[in-house]
This record gives sequence, C-alpha cells and structure tokens, in this order.
Amino acid sequence: MKSMNPHRVRWTFAAAAFVACLGAVTATMTVAPEVASADGATCGATGQPPCPLQKWMRANLGAAQSNGDAAALAAGLTKTAAMNPDPTWTDWAKISNDGAAAAGKGDIAGAKASCNSCHQKYKADYKAKFRMKTVP
Ligand code: HEC
Repeated sequence: MKSMNPHRVRWTFAAAAFVACLGAVTATMTVAPEVASADGATCGATGQPPCPLQKWMRANLGAAQSNGDAAALAAGLTKTAAMNPDPTWTDWAKISNDGAAAAGKGDIAGAKASCNSCHQKYKADYKAKFRMKTVP
C-alpha cells in the first residue's frame, strides 16, 4: 500500500484527539465505555444509575471544573485524596493533593492536570475493582 488508507488516517486522528481530550469531562463522559465490572456492578451502564464515585465526581469535580470554580475544585480534590480505596495506590493522595494545592492558588489548569493523572493511572483499575464502593 503506497498511500495511507484514509480510514487509518481518520482513526489515528481520532485516537490522537481522544488522548488530547482525556481530561475533558465531556470526552470522558461520551467516550468512556460503560461496562459492568468484574464484581457484577449494576451501575454505570446506559439506563443504569451512575456508580457511587462516578456520581460524586460528576456532581462535585465535574461541575466545579465546568464552572471554573477553583474553591470547589480545591475542596473536592481534598476530599478525593481521602477516598483512596487501595493502600498500594500510593500516588492517589499525592495527585489529589497536588491538584487541590493548585486549585487553592487559582490554578485551574494545574487542578485539571490532577484529574488527568489520576484518571489515566487509576480509573480503569478503580472501575474493575471498586466500582460499587460507597463514597463517604
Ligand atoms: C485521585 C483520583 C482522581 C482524581 C484526582 C480525579 N478523579 Fe475523577 N474519577 C476518578 C475515578 C476512579 C473515576 C471512575 C469512577 C467510576 O466510574 O466508578 C472518576 C470519574 C470521574 C467522572 C465520571 C465520568 C463518567 O463516567 O461520567 C468525572 C466527571 C470526573 N471523574 C471528573 C474529575 C475532575 C473534573 C477531576 C479534577 C478536577 C477529577 N475527576 C479528579 C478518580 C479521580
């Protein structure tokens, strides 16, 4: 094949765009596949209620991010730090606290970086292992 297949180009672009948008709440919400987790979770899929942390994230951090509300981001990220479900996830609290500190200084971009870091590092594992976990 001499020239690049246009479908492949489109796919590559879509993948790049997805990676670029990982932090965007709307992208997360529309692109993230909603599948039942290994422990038989009955939440999060289309037509089901959102899972506990998913619901909390949307209502707190998602809303705060959309509103550009640095104080709410700082408060929410501080709470997130305490929600680490697994003691071996040693970066969970640090990522959250770094984001909270950035938000506390009015640095919304810095706060958003913490969303991306944690989602990339822990979201899939969280969904697989702790999806039904109650959020304090
Ligand atoms: C330390 C970890 C961590 C941090 C920091 C974090 N999140 Fe999350 N977030 C998660 C996990 C884990 C889930 C998956 C919960 C689920 O689906 O059960 C999630 C899910 C979400 C969802 C739900 C997506 C959906 O399925 O609808 C939104 C919205 C969200 N996060 C926004 C944010 C925003 C905005 C920030 C930053 C201001 C942020 N999160 C920071 C761990 C984190």
